[in-house]
Amino acid sequence: LTPSHAASDDFPQCLSASIPCQLVYAQSSPSFTSVLLSSIRNARFSTPATVRPLWVITPTNASHVQAAVFCGRRHGVRLRVRSGGHDYEGLSYSSKRPEVFAVVDLSSLRGVRIDARNSTAWVDSGATLGELYYAVAQASNNQLAFPAGLCPTIGVGGHLSGGGFGTLLRKYGLAADNVLDALLVDARGRLLDRDAMGPDVFWAIRGGGGESFGVVLSWQVRLVPVPPTVTAFRIPVAADEGAVDAVTRWQEVAPALPDDLFIRVLLQNQTATFEALYLGACDALLPVMRCRFRELGTRMNRTHCQEMTWIQSVPYFYPSSGGGGTVEDILNRTTAAGTYTKMTSDYVRRAIRRDAWESIFAGWLARPDAGIMILDPYGAAIGGVPEAATPFPHRAGVLYNIQYVNVWFAGGDGGGAAQMKWVSDLYAFMEPYVSSSPREAYFNYRDLDLGENVVVGNVSSYEAGKVWGEKYFRDNYKRLALAKNDIDPDDFFRNEQSIPPLRPSK
Ligand code: FDA
Repeated sequence: LTPSHAASDDFPQCLSASIPCQLVYAQSSPSFTSVLLSSIRNARFSTPATVRPLWVITPTNASHVQAAVFCGRRHGVRLRVRSGGHDYEGLSYSSKRPEVFAVVDLSSLRGVRIDARNSTAWVDSGATLGELYYAVAQASNNQLAFPAGLCPTIGVGGHLSGGGFGTLLRKYGLAADNVLDALLVDARGRLLDRDAMGPDVFWAIRGGGGESFGVVLSWQVRLVPVPPTVTAFRIPVAADEGAVDAVTRWQEVAPALPDDLFIRVLLQNQTATFEALYLGACDALLPVMRCRFRELGTRMNRTHCQEMTWIQSVPYFYPSSGGGGTVEDILNRTTAAGTYTKMTSDYVRRAIRRDAWESIFAGWLARPDAGIMILDPYGAAIGGVPEAATPFPHRAGVLYNIQYVNVWFAGGDGGGAAQMKWVSDLYAFMEPYVSSSPREAYFNYRDLDLGENVVVGNVSSYEAGKVWGEKYFRDNYKRLALAKNDIDPDDFFRNEQSIPPLRPSK
């Protein structure tokens, strides 16, 4: 496939045979910019320097996606797929290098069909997590939930295909662990379900990133039971109130707690904020806290507990989704594109020493351009799945995930340089304390600083991809590359961090 501009002029003509013209936006269309910007989450990827698509296609059924693939292949136009647009490096709608491409934006494909009796649902990739959570709670009278991420505007397509974890991760594992079936349009334009795509591709799209394998249109998922009352709390502990001791202790306690208790930590300025979800009532939670986590438990009483339904806990953990923090707010798809962000991640397998936490508080978190560190505990269900069962390898032995986040409000010359440097310098500082050989990272917290594909002979190089691929996938990287070769040997579906195809050795 060699994109040439002359051939790309034929692309919209080809599309017009199968897709209504009002669903295809060329750069010259008055609505092009607003459609493109509609779900951009990170302003770093909507600057004049950003390499943009030549078209945005907004399919409303599977045949439109099949036509986009067919026409793209025929006329040398690559496709990038966007569900919720939350990609940390903007890869669902922008390219780092000059490229002739179109965005297939699935936001109009967002149905959720619940089968409460069998605790399953079919959800289209363009639905948001908020839409899924809301529909599940409504259809089950608050008895069922789905274990996935905290932010309700995230798209189902990218999230489920890249792993996906949130407050239920210790009880029920990843979103991807709870996928039962999927519908995929492959690089030949075929519409494939689980049986038709075969076990290796079905394995690959549950954590290995959908974008390497085709366009996932919808997912059948397992819904999980939740009690009528859950308890949430948020307790800030300042550095001069013992934050360093509490965080040091949290590292060993949180991953070993009962699976119905999830306690994460946000480190910002000189404060560690402990945020928790307990699948039960406050009366049952308080004794567990006092007995298992004294450093926090002895500071706690009934007034810290917020009892609610599981669906009410969604806006509790992500109140910015609509401002008011009501359950209806989680249906708001509007994203805040105004901020610039940089993130990266680590995994911790051995508790970090107290003196290192002292340096983090006194040094890194005290800097003027400091960001946030978010620590999510693993263990229990997420750790109980064998490492090769899905592409996501961060299982038994992982204590917790660290996410480094920095946010700023103005781009332009030098804008964000200090915040980006804070993230990369802290990442360098953390090296002795985190997982090694490889230093693991979470694929859904994508970071192109971990490495980018090198294209050799018009195919992404398997060897070059190891640099970033083994960080996200450890030994599963090779099986992902073999699955890629099965379904897309020509590497039609590719981006800067897509899985390269690997031919099996004879
Ligand atoms: P987007 O549409 O940008 O897609 C992301 C990637 O998936 C792209 O490469 C895209 O091409 C591909 N893709 C998308 N849809 C596809 C489809 N249908 N078929 C094939 N490929 C497809 N994560 C987490 O685990 N827990 C959390 O709590 C959070 N919280 C969070 C908050 C905020 C504010 C952000 C911005 C991000 C998170 N994340 C997260 C990370 C999130 O899970 C990750 O960015 C997902 O990939 C986003 O999925 P979207 O569909 O929104 O992204």
